[in-house]
Amino acid sequence: MTNTIRIGVIGAGSISEMHLKSYDKNPNAKLYAICDLNEQRAQAKADKYAIPHVYTDYLELLANPEIDAISICTWNNSHAAISIAALNAGKHVLCEKPLCRTVEEALQVEQAVRQSEKTLQVGFVRRYSANTRIVKEMADQGDLGEIYYAKASCIRKLGNPGGWFSDHERSGGGPLIDVGVHVIDLCWYLMGRPKVKSISGNTYKKLGNRANVQNLAYYKSSDYDADKNTVEDMANALIRFENGASLYVDVSFTLHAKEDELTVKLYGEKGGVELEPSLTFITEKYNTIMNATPQINNLSFDFAAGFQDEINYFIEVCNGTKQTLSPVEDGVEMMKMLCGIYESAEAGEEIRF
Ligand SMILES: NC(=O)c1ccc[n+]([C@@H]2O[C@H](COP(=O)([O-])OP(=O)(O)OC[C@H]3O[C@@H](n4cnc5c(N)ncnc54)[C@H](O)[C@@H]3O)[C@@H](O)[C@H]2O)c1
Repeated sequence: MTNTIRIGVIGAGSISEMHLKSYDKNPNAKLYAICDLNEQRAQAKADKYAIPHVYTDYLELLANPEIDAISICTWNNSHAAISIAALNAGKHVLCEKPLCRTVEEALQVEQAVRQSEKTLQVGFVRRYSANTRIVKEMADQGDLGEIYYAKASCIRKLGNPGGWFSDHERSGGGPLIDVGVHVIDLCWYLMGRPKVKSISGNTYKKLGNRANVQNLAYYKSSDYDADKNTVEDMANALIRFENGASLYVDVSFTLHAKEDELTVKLYGEKGGVELEPSLTFITEKYNTIMNATPQINNLSFDFAAGFQDEINYFIEVCNGTKQTLSPVEDGVEMMKMLCGIYESAEAGEEIRF
């Protein structure tokens, strides 16, 4: 039997809109409560989506026994505490990426999941999109053979969002933890989640936030403030896995680059695939190299469709009809990789696991 799942959304800033819109369109979800430290912001969403309960303290929202599941759309520094409190209160949790800021926090969240009978789905939204699902099926069926190398870039020439994103205390880091998490996760997930053997990372703080730049628009956080910037401008890393595969990644909030770049590429013994910027499979047939383009609606990640897919899936998880594609354990492994990159950069040398 399919139940209606009553939802509370905590954090009513930019990304909450994607969650709210997607729950609103899901026939088995009911938007029941919203919470933000900023009451006006929470109230505005409540008015827009006819949400009956508005809170400024997430503990009060969690004390409402009518709520079955929550989305966490707050700054990264509250992800762990809210996740743990929600699980203890008997709610299923969809937590935005990154799971939290540190490995210690991640292990505490994992422990809380184990002690509860609830699921925590990490908001690795790109795993749920159609193009990723197509590649995952090909990889699982062996069409790419053993994937031994992956390469991902998420380069913004100018795009430090300011506010909490650039305050290390609240974010846990800069472009690596914010956008690097998506592309590293995609590669690692499609490579079959190999165990990490060693990490060599570098971070750079050379250009600052470049709030001085004029005549070029870029994304800014809900409470934009350029005064504080304690995060890296860019990071790169080489991750080596126990099965011999390797992953190279570079990401930036700002870099003297000609243009922005989003690429996710995987190379296997039987074929390769470019997931971003545009889904293409590369293979060899009868001594000829072929590029194959699937006929699908979006060859790149489609934001609205991706979030709808993620949230539809989460509602099925809450109803017990599906197992999440992004369990807490993967959130923990991702925190080990992200924090490992920061640790290696700090130490100036490769770290081994
Ligand atoms: N999946 C994606 O593609 C994606 C994209 C953007 C952001 N995110 C993630 O979503 C989260 C929010 O990002 P955003 O861009 O919406 O930021 P934002 O600044 O626009 O909104 C965050 C909101 O959370 C509120 N908040 C913070 N701490 C709170 C607390 N303890 N209790 C209640 N409210 C609290 C703030 O007042 C703010 O309104 C971050 O973790 C970010 O990494 C994910």
